[in-house]
Amino acid sequence: MKIGIIGSGNMGRSLGILWAQQGHQVFFGARTIQKGQAVAEFAGHGTQGGSNDEAAIFGEVLLYTVRGVNPAEVLSSTDILAGKILIDPNNYDIPEDFNYPPIVKSLAQKLAQEVPNAHVVKAFNTIPMEVFELAPEPLKDYNVSVFVAADDPKAKQIVMQLAQEIGFAPIDSGTLSNARLIEGLADLYRFLIIHQQMGAYTGISLQKLPQAQTQRLGGRQPSTLR
Ligand SMILES: NC(=O)c1ccc[n+]([C@@H]2O[C@H](COP(=O)([O-])OP(=O)(O)OC[C@H]3O[C@@H](n4cnc5c(N)ncnc54)[C@H](OP(=O)(O)O)[C@@H]3O)[C@@H](O)[C@H]2O)c1
Repeated sequence: MKIGIIGSGNMGRSLGILWAQQGHQVFFGARTIQKGQAVAEFAGHGTQGGSNDEAAIFGEVLLYTVRGVNPAEVLSSTDILAGKILIDPNNYDIPEDFNYPPIVKSLAQKLAQEVPNAHVVKAFNTIPMEVFELAPEPLKDYNVSVFVAADDPKAKQIVMQLAQEIGFAPIDSGTLSNARLIEGLADLYRFLIIHQQMGAYTGISLQKLPQAQTQRLGGRQPSTLR
């Protein structure tokens, strides 16, 4: 696939390199052409670099790492995004003392409102960049979940495939309205890895468990709570 990276910082550089290693064509975009080109030079694997506009024009799939900034401010025209898949890996900034306010509207939903012509897909926001260093080997042995939410089923499927290729276990997390929940999960996760010092090399794994052979605890009864 042709993948454009809009904002080639930690997330953009890491994911771009991993996808290029899988044989995808990757273009790293940045605010200056020089920065985009420097990232491509570092990345190798036939990647290219330049402006964010060029990256957006290049990619069928775009990674948008510019948290909370309207694409209308980043690109010369948002018409470039028409029909494209726009992956949103963003999280709100961590407030002082991890005192997170409730997420009323997710960053992904705001992005989708700003660019209704694109197919926004929430993904990768629960993956610390350090974990990408383990991808795809030995990561694929650890069943690390990537929660993927989108309104367009085809776009969601493509991003799930891109997650799987680099060693993650993608989880279909429903429509984009669930991005609010996924961003909330990332808030807890960041509290655990930073405040509780679990460290960035920690992965969330949703596990399928075997069914119990007996119901020795009485089984699930209808609740009487109203
Ligand atoms: N780092 C992680 O471990 C991690 C994990 C999960 C989710 N996330 C989320 O992913 C997002 C990106 O994080 P990151 O660590 O990759 O950040 P980062 O290293 O700071 O990269 C952000 C990129 O955004 C660009 N940028 C910033 N302000 C801009 C503006 N006004 N206009 C255009 N471009 C602008 C910068 O572009 P230039 O290259 O042009 O300077 C930079 O490359 C954040 O929302 C973060 O919460 C991060």
